[in-house]
Amino acid sequence: MNILLKGGTVVSSKSSKKADVLISGEKIIAIGKNLNTDAEVVDVTSKLLFPGFIDAHTHFALEVSDTVTADDFEFGTKSAIAGGTTTIIDFATQNKGENLSCALNNWHVKAFSNSSCDYAFHMAISDWNNDIKNELPAMFEQGVTSFKVYMTYPLMKLCDKEIFDVLTELKKFGGIAGVHCENAGIIDGLVEEKRRLNQLTVSSHPLTRPDYAEAEAVNRLLNIAYAVNTPVIIVHLSTKAALDEVMRARARGQKVYVETCPQYLLLDEEKYSLDFSESSKYVCSPPVRKAIDRKSLWRALKHEEIQTVSTDHCSFTIEQKGAGESDFTKVPNGMPGVETRGFLMYTYGVKKKRISVSQMCAYLSENPAKLYGMYPKKGAIKVGSDADIVIYDPRVKQVIKVENMHSKCDYSPFENVKIDGSIDSVYLRGYKVFDGKNIMNEKIGRYVSRGRFDL
Ligand code: URP
Ligand code: ZN
Ligand code: ZN
Repeated sequence: MNILLKGGTVVSSKSSKKADVLISGEKIIAIGKNLNTDAEVVDVTSKLLFPGFIDAHTHFALEVSDTVTADDFEFGTKSAIAGGTTTIIDFATQNKGENLSCALNNWHVKAFSNSSCDYAFHMAISDWNNDIKNELPAMFEQGVTSFKVYMTYPLMKLCDKEIFDVLTELKKFGGIAGVHCENAGIIDGLVEEKRRLNQLTVSSHPLTRPDYAEAEAVNRLLNIAYAVNTPVIIVHLSTKAALDEVMRARARGQKVYVETCPQYLLLDEEKYSLDFSESSKYVCSPPVRKAIDRKSLWRALKHEEIQTVSTDHCSFTIEQKGAGESDFTKVPNGMPGVETRGFLMYTYGVKKKRISVSQMCAYLSENPAKLYGMYPKKGAIKVGSDADIVIYDPRVKQVIKVENMHSKCDYSPFENVKIDGSIDSVYLRGYKVFDGKNIMNEKIGRYVSRGRFDL
């Protein structure tokens, strides 16, 4: 039986227009005014229809800091669906000494038959040598076309020459790197200083990862990309200083894509002054920042200087965070976010008139689909696209409560935050997977083999 979503407002990056949407099987087959068919009619009057959100930055079932993230693919993807995210791109992560095929296979095993939303993988490269270089063609053949490189974290970081080589190789295949930009030397030096002074509470976390450490790494990366003459993505950009570096590089003609996350748009570093049980919830890298940074990021979204808003969902329970009670460097880094991104961007972006509803669609759906080689299968309500649709009811008011969420994490960094709107329902490839409260048709998520970036 076909499904007709009738009377809603269809949002794209260009417009929001009243139109009916007809779904047959897994695809959208017609869009228009007053469509009449013998399909099952779903009345979506007064509701917004977004292309299923894409979260291009999640870490599910990641082994890190002597533990494993609270959300695996089962819980993480349910949490995604309940937040309107129908596709995630997780970071398959190469451990040092491991090859890329092994890392990719590990991630397929974690995700396969456990995922309630569709999923794809970036490959995080932590070890670079000739054998790894020779594996790149196989990655592209298997639909992995974007790669993460870290400029910090002892177990992950590559040096400048290695980054130069990675970018050079990716360029040959039309691939792209997303880079975690923080200056490792500055961070390590400042941490040593804090240790010497025995200042090991969470309040030291932002002080050891200052904005200039991010800006310096962005600047260095962009010079490396300039030398290679290739585009690059800055992931989870958090500061005005770093954004200024991006703008300078663009002014000399470079193609630079920027991702930010709701925590950098909405949370203040004052969180790190709270008691350990609270402050540890916000330990992530880069840390959350100051008002001047948030203002600059919102302005950049308004002017489309940032291309995507993802979450960097990397969840740990309060108990797991407790590992760093007497030493902030031992708090596992990261926070949950995959379930709250759409609500936060609608309420604090669209309703506050910082961005338009079409820009929200661009940042959460259309741009990530294009940037990561999935458009127009994903990221669009168009004839022929997958019927991944979020039906958002802007009239409802609610408050974020972890008890209503689907993640395995036992807190939300946005607990008690007021929200305009709620998700009425979510469709994934034509299947109704969320009714506003419950996940339905669990674990039908499929691997998405991606093409080259095109934004
Ligand atoms: O603190 C964070 N962001 N943890 C996740 C790993 C990363 O750097 O993206
Ligand atoms: Zn990172
Ligand atoms: Zn991350």
